[in-house]
Amino acid sequence: KHSPNVTVVLKRKAAEKALAGDLTVTTESTEPIDGQKPGTSGLRKKTKVFMGKNYLENFVQSTFTSLKSTGVPIEGGTLVVSGDGRYYNKEAIQVITKMAVANGVKAVWIGKDGLMSTPAASAVIRCREGGFVPFGGFILSASHNPGGIDEDFGIKFNCENGGSAIEKVTDLIYQNTQSIKEYKICKGFPNIDISTCGTYVVGDKVRVDVFDGTEDHVGLLQKVFDFEAIKKLIARKDFSMVYDSMNGVQGPYARKVFVDELGAPESALMNAIPKEDFGGKDSPSHGHADPNLTYAVELVAKMGLNKLGERIGSGDSVPDFGAAADGDADRNMILGKQWFVSPSDSVAIIAANISCIPFFKDGLNGCARSMPTSGALDLVAKKKKIPCFVTPTGWKFFGNLMDSGDEKYFPDTECYTPFICGEESFGTGGNHVREKDGMWAVLAWLQILASKNKDESKPLVTVEAITMDHWKTYGRNYYCRYDYEGVASEGANTMMSNLKEKCGTLKGEEIKGMKVESAESFEYHDPVDKSVSSNQGIKIIFTDGSRIVFRLSGTGSAGATIRLYLEKYEKPSGNLALSQFEVVKPLAAIALEMSDLTGKHRKLHVLRKP
Ligand code: G6P
Ligand code: ZN
Repeated sequence: KHSPNVTVVLKRKAAEKALAGDLTVTTESTEPIDGQKPGTSGLRKKTKVFMGKNYLENFVQSTFTSLKSTGVPIEGGTLVVSGDGRYYNKEAIQVITKMAVANGVKAVWIGKDGLMSTPAASAVIRCREGGFVPFGGFILSASHNPGGIDEDFGIKFNCENGGSAIEKVTDLIYQNTQSIKEYKICKGFPNIDISTCGTYVVGDKVRVDVFDGTEDHVGLLQKVFDFEAIKKLIARKDFSMVYDSMNGVQGPYARKVFVDELGAPESALMNAIPKEDFGGKDSPSHGHADPNLTYAVELVAKMGLNKLGERIGSGDSVPDFGAAADGDADRNMILGKQWFVSPSDSVAIIAANISCIPFFKDGLNGCARSMPTSGALDLVAKKKKIPCFVTPTGWKFFGNLMDSGDEKYFPDTECYTPFICGEESFGTGGNHVREKDGMWAVLAWLQILASKNKDESKPLVTVEAITMDHWKTYGRNYYCRYDYEGVASEGANTMMSNLKEKCGTLKGEEIKGMKVESAESFEYHDPVDKSVSSNQGIKIIFTDGSRIVFRLSGTGSAGATIRLYLEKYEKPSGNLALSQFEVVKPLAAIALEMSDLTGKHRKLHVLRKP
């Protein structure tokens, strides 16, 4: 699909700026540092850990070494390096650039100010025109985790397809971090002025391009969606929207898409200035650029809701549509006027209405969700007679599925199979890139709204009405997740292994009046590369279709977080308007009894948050 990497041929153009620089490679000796195993989405640790001696260098060198050993053409290759703008982003970019050059890279692509959202980086790796095909990129982000010198930093490598490196690669990187003895760096390579777009040529041999990181992604999205139709929706007098970038990387991008392209007023933008600490502890989100009911406090209040998604106030001046992104803008939250759309429902509703989106006008060839995500998407897939894959948590598992489909090829977008995916963790996206895409999800909803609201003389069809219609057709998967944060790792692991052991005997057992249909530790067999991922969560299904899932979070930077996912299905003719928390309460009681979470873990001062 992608042509092989090409050696950079430096063509001088007027805009190029020659920079003096010494390209001598220095080999520095180092020692392995413990704990550099990438989690669900890259390596995340406290910023100060990353700033410690050789921490970043070890990980970056181990990545280059791993890639070289698997035949990735680094020598003469092109590398993308950018991040979500959190504290230490800019410094890390300079270090990685100097190391990349020392490892043979001949062109480095960097977003202006070091900024590129995660989906934008994926788009740049896959699609940016420029004669060169990057072999991959480093994305510097800890996603929704707070940023700052006392908070989190993160790094991950995305491969040539634009997706996060799969486990085989990250395992190899980890192995190399355990045996590393030296790293390479060009100490005399100049610091690049990443605040100014341009092409810098260093020592007549190495080229660094600094460009607007949103360009390629916006261009790609314009091929997926009908911006004109969305513009008409936004121009309707009875429609208003707000978008909260949560001081993450999405700000400039939101301005470009919503204000410049789609004609929304400037007032539609909230927290649109990227900050190194996403606003910090004293901001309404407490520095958690995480688009959910708990942290997107300002937006949630503006949309007339409380932290449980319940209505507050009359709703009179509440906008019709609200959405938010996380720090690196791959996550999204969708809200209507006093209405919360759960992420599991969101992907199902998009799938059900997919033909409203030009790129998907002929329908989907398939879809996928992570295991803990509710089964709402499965119901749509069944009706549309398309496959619905269930993967472990982590967007990287969708990459193989997307890459494998080649029935339809869209030369404009380099996309093959029309395919969409979603996760309960506020991730939604399609196969235009290989990351979840916060902007895509919002445009998908706006496109659906636009298509149902073409006639301005008719009353607005709302987000709430679209959701209700969906439930009336497919039924409602009542759903709720509890997080137990700050648990000691040992206790959490013991709890999971105890549960795994219990699975063998649970079938047929009756607990608090509910009978267990099946209980298993989820194991994924990738249908494409045949790899097996074990221990991906404990899944217990009851005879009435209700489900309990236990899983350990893979995104923390210290200690453990236990996640408990609860789901109960209600058919279309049933009661669709209850509170999700109330509906799943009996399941929560069973889950707590089974796992001993109340007993053992509550004593550990577990923070319990719905
Ligand atoms: C990241 C990944 C998602 C995944 C999520 C799970 O955001 O990109 O694909 O769903 O982590 O987080 P958790 O904390 O539950 O492991
Ligand atoms: Zn993210």
